[in-house]
Amino acid sequence: NTVKIRVPGTTANCGPGFDAVGIACTLYNDLELTLSDEDGISLAITGEGAEFIPADDSNVVIKAIKMILNKTGHTAKGIKLTMVNKIPLARGLGSSAAAIVGGLVGANELTGRHFSQEDILAMATTIEGHPDNVAPAIFGGITVSIMDSGIANYLRFLPPADFSMVVVIPEFNLSTKAARKVLPETVPFTDAVFNVSRAALLIGALCTGELKLLSHALQDRLHQPYREKLIPGMAQVLSAARQAGALGAVLSGAGPCLLAFTDGNADKIGKAMVKAFRIHKVKASYQLLQIDQ
Ligand code: HSE
Repeated sequence: NTVKIRVPGTTANCGPGFDAVGIACTLYNDLELTLSDEDGISLAITGEGAEFIPADDSNVVIKAIKMILNKTGHTAKGIKLTMVNKIPLARGLGSSAAAIVGGLVGANELTGRHFSQEDILAMATTIEGHPDNVAPAIFGGITVSIMDSGIANYLRFLPPADFSMVVVIPEFNLSTKAARKVLPETVPFTDAVFNVSRAALLIGALCTGELKLLSHALQDRLHQPYREKLIPGMAQVLSAARQAGALGAVLSGAGPCLLAFTDGNADKIGKAMVKAFRIHKVKASYQLLQIDQ
C-alpha cells in the first residue's frame, strides 16, 4: 500500500485562455504515499517548499488524499508522504495543482481506483477553484478544460510543430488569491470579444502548428493588464522576450513567472528577460521547458 506518483508543473492561461487553457511542462514533483492503520500524518519534503509546507489539512495534498478516503469510506488513519518538489511554489507554475493531483491520484491508486481521470479532474477543480492547471497536470500535453454544472469537460492535444518554453522565475512569490483579487468583476464587451478571438486563434494555431500566429494569439485583455502592477517590469520583460525573437510571451498562470514561446534562440530570450527584470531590481533566473507528454 505504497504508491509513487510523478506530476508535472503547468502553465495556465497562456495569454487569452484565462481559467481554461494549460500546458504541462517538463518540471516535476515526485510523491510517495503510504496509507496505514497507524494514526497520524507524516510528511517529508525535499526541494521547493521544504521549510514551510504544513502537515495538516491546510496542505492541499492532505486535503486531496482525505477527499478520496472520505468518498470511498476507506478506513486508513495514517498518511505517510514523501515529496521531492522541483516546481517552485506560488510562482505561477502549478505547484498547488501538482500537489492536489498527486494526492488524488495516489490515494485513488491505493483505494481500489474507484475514480476515473475525469472524476479526478472534477475533484481537483473543486479544491483548486479552476481547472486550467489541474487538467494538464492529470493528462499532460496541452489542455482546454471547462466545468459545466460540476462536470468536467476537456480537450487534450499535442501540437504538430515543435516549440519550447522559456520560463523566467523571479525571486518572489505571488499567491493566486492575491493575483485574482486585482481582477475586475466585469469587463468591457470589446475586451471580451478581443479575448474570444485570440483564444480561438491560439487553439487553432497550436492544433495546426501555425506558430507564427502566436504573436497575435497570445494577446489578452482579461487578466494580464490588471496583474501587471503586481510584477515589477512585467511589460518590459515580455517585450524583451519578443525583441529577442520569441514567438510570443505571457504571464504564466497568475504569475509572477513570465513565459516565452520559442522555436529557437531560447538562451538569448531567457537572458534578455532576466536582464530586463534586473533593470527593475528583480532577481530572476530562467529555465528551458518542453511540453510534458
Ligand atoms: N487561471 C488561474 C489564474 C491560474 O490566472 O488565476 C492560477 O494558477
